[in-house]
Amino acid sequence: MLNARSASLLLLLLAMPAWGVEHPGVIPIDSECASCHVKKVTGKSVHSAMSTQCTVCHVARTQGDMTTLSLAMPKELICFACHEKSAELQQHVPVVKGLCVDCHDAHSSDQRMLLRTAAGPPLSALKKR
Ligand code: HEC
Ligand code: HEC
Ligand code: HEC
Ligand code: HEC
Repeated sequence: MLNARSASLLLLLLAMPAWGVEHPGVIPIDSECASCHVKKVTGKSVHSAMSTQCTVCHVARTQGDMTTLSLAMPKELICFACHEKSAELQQHVPVVKGLCVDCHDAHSSDQRMLLRTAAGPPLSALKKR
């Protein structure tokens, strides 16, 4: 009984997001993330999600003199927390194996539409796949 419980606990822990990503330096409570990460909130296109807290998507945990970070949801799901899997989106997202963040920066970009590269892959090419 006990063994079974600790075994499933172990499985649960293994399934949890990696808390191992250590932030370089402890983040004091109440500090503005953007005060250091200015680039995330500036650029030609800035994600509307940036007008809320970074912690909508990034979970920060401070213990002692270490802050660890993880995403609030897995990378392949997090965008759908706010963006509906609408027909429109599905059309431009190819038979998705790729991640939204392959093409879009989650924060800001010097291109339009938060795209990572100047042109972005042509939409017509995407639809064909
Ligand atoms: C005192 C300045 C400072 C503050 C405040 C700060 N950061 Fe950072 N952060 C840095 C530096 C420096 C780096 C390393 C260089 C980089 O990636 O920009 C970093 C890296 C990161 C990384 C990348 C970690 C990795 O290795 O993958 C994330 C994610 C991050 N910060 C999120 C946050 C969030 C969320 C907050 C607010 C809760 C925050 N930061 C507050 C300075 C800061
Ligand atoms: C809409 C959700 C979302 C919000 C809001 C958000 N992030 Fe992120 N962030 C992500 C995702 C997703 C990744 C991982 C991107 C990847 O792996 O390509 C990431 C990665 C990062 C990284 C490391 C990789 C990089 O792009 O430099 C830093 C630093 C970071 N975020 C800082 C911030 C800060 C600071 C804020 C608030 C100003 C913030 N984020 C708000 C979703 C978000
Ligand atoms: C906290 C809510 C939230 C999350 C999570 C979120 N977004 Fe957004 N996003 C918005 C809002 C609000 C807008 C502006 C209204 C709209 O276009 O739907 C927006 C707009 C966009 C745009 C259009 C930008 C433009 O310039 O027109 C892109 C591209 C985008 N998001 C990509 C992403 C990607 C990729 C992710 C996952 C990393 C993501 N979003 C996660 C809230 C969110
Ligand atoms: C293969 C690259 C690619 C992937 C993957 C991708 N996008 Fe896009 N996305 C684009 C391009 C290119 C545009 C600009 C389309 C245009 O020119 O109007 C765009 C536009 C958008 C827009 C604004 C226009 C609209 O249709 O509302 C949103 C929002 C968006 N993407 C969200 C997402 C989300 C969420 C994901 C993940 C499910 C995603 N994208 C995956 C390339 C991509």
